[in-house]
Amino acid sequence: MDKKEIRTIGVLTSGGDAPGMNAAIRAVVRTGAYHGIKVCGIMRGYNGLINGEIEEMSPRDVSEVLHRGGTCLMTARCLEFKTKEGVERACEIARVFGLDGLVVIGGDGSFRGAKDLSNSGVPTIAMPGTIDNDISCSEYTIGYDTCLNTVKDAIDKVRDTASSHERCSVIEVMGRNAGYIALEAGIACGAEIVLLPERKFNFDEDVLRKILEAKSRGKRHAIVVVAEGVDCDVLEMAKRIEKATGIETRATILGHIQRGGSPTVRDRVTASRMGARCVELLLEGKANRIVCMQKGEITDVDINEGLAMTKKLPEDLVKLVEVLSV
Ligand code: ADP
Ligand code: F6P
Repeated sequence: MDKKEIRTIGVLTSGGDAPGMNAAIRAVVRTGAYHGIKVCGIMRGYNGLINGEIEEMSPRDVSEVLHRGGTCLMTARCLEFKTKEGVERACEIARVFGLDGLVVIGGDGSFRGAKDLSNSGVPTIAMPGTIDNDISCSEYTIGYDTCLNTVKDAIDKVRDTASSHERCSVIEVMGRNAGYIALEAGIACGAEIVLLPERKFNFDEDVLRKILEAKSRGKRHAIVVVAEGVDCDVLEMAKRIEKATGIETRATILGHIQRGGSPTVRDRVTASRMGARCVELLLEGKANRIVCMQKGEITDVDINEGLAMTKKLPEDLVKLVEVLSV
């Protein structure tokens, strides 16, 4: 598709919200305006596309969103869009509203939807917005840094009280099936133990022994960070630790506070760069691509290739938890 055919594009956020999504929306709207094209905001993810909840957005409509968490377009998980009929309906609505291209901000589920749209004739570019940092083709996903800082603040607070009471604290963090949040927050907060879905663990060896060793080395607390993807109940785990070690133990599930808050500089800047790049790609006539970060640079890959990639936890960081907990 050549440049002059793109006159109107749409933007939506889909899946779990992430801090920095607003910065990305703003970048899409303003980059579009800069290049003289019309940008429409689509409400509530793919639901809004199917239901025609679509409004033109001017640069002023995104004046007060850069510093806010969440997404001003709202987000949703749309089951209907996973069906052939749902995708067909979405394409029909895109045609009715004259959308020549679409920008989708979300995680890998949203990318699968973006692929379906591109394959059905609506040129779509996706970019990674999720606190989980679990997109294989991208070193970084929008919202991850803000989430890590929120988790860091929370664990620091738990540590103050755990230390004062000479307790063990078991803290569950988000991340779906990935351990990135647990791993980096664990290192940032000096956790004694980090349990990751990507690594099997033995409760006696990897938890109890380490907690008792930490105590014998004179530590006044033990912080155990558990990724939510680990198959265990942290409340139960805390009871088991207390019973086996005699050390008073408390469990904290950080929950959705991890998804909110004003985005950090890293998230605002990365979201702005990626959002702008999405629009440029559409204007260059590209479709079915994921804008991502590789080797610290903003780049883009084919959606099929991106979805087929795998990403490994950095081994050096996994080792670092053990080294630094002596
Ligand atoms: P995320 O994008 O954060 O991974 P989800 O997995 O919930 O979040 O996906 C967001 C939305 O993307 C879903 O509600 C659905 O509308 C769409 N989606 C998810 N998986 C698929 C799929 N396999 N094919 C088409 N669309 C999908
Ligand atoms: O993908 C972001 C995320 O916050 C995951 O870390 C978590 O597993 C999931 O979304 C929670 O989803 P919900 O908001 O539907 O409870």
